[in-house]
Amino acid sequence: MRFDILTLFPDIINAYIKESIIKRAIEKNILDVNVVNIRDFTPYKNGQVDDTPYGGGAGMVLMCEPVVRAIESVRTDSSKVYLLTPQGKKFNNQLASSIINDTKHVILVCGHYEGFDERIYNFVDGEISIGDYVLTGGELPSLVIMDTISRFIPGVILEDSFTNDSFNDNLLDYPNYTKPRDFRGYLVPDVLLSGDHKKIKEYRTSEKLRITKEKRPDLLK
Ligand code: ADE
Repeated sequence: MRFDILTLFPDIINAYIKESIIKRAIEKNILDVNVVNIRDFTPYKNGQVDDTPYGGGAGMVLMCEPVVRAIESVRTDSSKVYLLTPQGKKFNNQLASSIINDTKHVILVCGHYEGFDERIYNFVDGEISIGDYVLTGGELPSLVIMDTISRFIPGVILEDSFTNDSFNDNLLDYPNYTKPRDFRGYLVPDVLLSGDHKKIKEYRTSEKLRITKEKRPDLLK
């Protein structure tokens, strides 16, 4: 699976992918993350990438030319290009799963300032939002999306962790405990120490249901 992240702030992306699970997946060659600096593709003087809006108004608008050139530098027939904006399709596990079934090359374009010149929509496949709030740029959303989709790639995390994840069966995850057995008087449930795998499985299934009812009843509808 390959991601190209197009941004004006490559250091933000590079800092994240140098750590932890994503770093390991890149080293194992099951994930490829390429960071593209949109500014490198501008034909305008002094690295200019934005300008004032026609018709007036606050802020600066990202110009099409540098963004489209950056997209064209990495796009192939099989890639899908998504803009990150608060107006996009709401991201969740289901959208992550449909994206990974659809393509093995995702191009994520991070916006800044007042957003993109509207004509950019003629050059992309879709638009994704990570929630109903406005961030200062698309870098955090691009990392959220890349990280979430990466967990669907076999080998990035343990198969078991993936199967038991929250949301996988529309239920939240069961509770986990580790050592010590007694933490300041709070005990690990006996069943987890019983060694009876059938009982443990039943306990976890019923806990998933109990916790979902309590914390996210909307998932059960
Ligand atoms: N850019 C700014 N806010 C955003 C959001 N909520 N989702 C995706 N991209 C964004």
